Amino acid sequence: MLTRQNFSNKLTTWFQAKRAHLPVPGRGDSNPYAIWVAEVMLQQTQVTTVWPYYENWMEKYPSISSLAVADQDQVLKSWEGLGYYSRARNLHRGAQYVTDTFNGKLPETVPELLKIPGVGTYTAAAIASLAFGIPEPLIDGNVLRVYSRVTRLTADIGLSKTKATITSELAQLINPEQPAEFNQGLMDLGRVICTPRNPDCESCPLKKICLSARTEDVESFPVKEKRKPLPHYHIVIGLIQKGDYFLIQKRPVNGLLGGLWEFPGGKIERGEKSEAALLREIKEETGLDVDLGKKIGTINHAYTHFKITMSAWFCDWIAGEAQTNASSENKWIHFSDMNTYAFPKANLKILELISPPT
Ligand code: ADE
Repeated sequence: MLTRQNFSNKLTTWFQAKRAHLPVPGRGDSNPYAIWVAEVMLQQTQVTTVWPYYENWMEKYPSISSLAVADQDQVLKSWEGLGYYSRARNLHRGAQYVTDTFNGKLPETVPELLKIPGVGTYTAAAIASLAFGIPEPLIDGNVLRVYSRVTRLTADIGLSKTKATITSELAQLINPEQPAEFNQGLMDLGRVICTPRNPDCESCPLKKICLSARTEDVESFPVKEKRKPLPHYHIVIGLIQKGDYFLIQKRPVNGLLGGLWEFPGGKIERGEKSEAALLREIKEETGLDVDLGKKIGTINHAYTHFKITMSAWFCDWIAGEAQTNASSENKWIHFSDMNTYAFPKANLKILELISPPT
């Protein structure tokens, strides 16, 4: 049976010995805002990817109040390339809420933290446990993997009821004196030792109590139902040029990739030729008449819920005033200003195919 003694003590002892060699953004920082930023960035994103974004962010927006008054375009630009942009919009809105409601200071209880827009179960528990020492378990993919292996859990970890069961079991095991060490130790163990493939069981502090290590079928856990394959869309976009300027459009703030800038275009319909689809989409989205120019190229990109193949063309403006039929704002910008706007990753990949005009 797992007990606080045999589970938590082994885990926190291991973490204390290793923590100096396991740097993680926000770790060891006594500023709750820094922990908030780091933990939001670390959801869905690897530690090594997060570091430069985290450092840049803390330099640009060193406090909740500085983030609250920042311009949304700037905030999204600081997030460009990290993906899941709703996280940036939520942090920004959250900072405004904390400024207005809590005088710019993060509250110290889970129910109050959950009132902040965009702060869900994970973020509230992360701030509470890591910044304020409240014994709230933290559940992420690494924790689910470690725990399901230690307990040989046969339930599907993709189900919310499985996550709820694991949360309540960890709430019994968490060390109330050292919740930050417990939570970070569990996440680190999953990241560096109890890895999805080839876990290093010989170095694991939980080896003696791990049921799947005993039965030597560690990699059979966690159990997770296969997801349906992601839908694959074929997209065409146009870099419409008028004199020295190109048209960019801002996506509606509340939708997918909301608030980011992009080039006009859209999905190719069944049976449609790419070029015809592009002219149709440009007309629908912008009302402009254009001539198709040189093809720029094709890229592939996988977002969370779908994959795309995107092809791009240069287009020459012929006639018309750009409309905002599918966007919240339009801008004609010089190519050299392109890098001051935040674009979705697929658009950035297209821009990388172009050498800037001389
Ligand atoms: N993953 C997300 N947050 C983490 C943290 N504080 N420590 C280790 N891994 C993490």
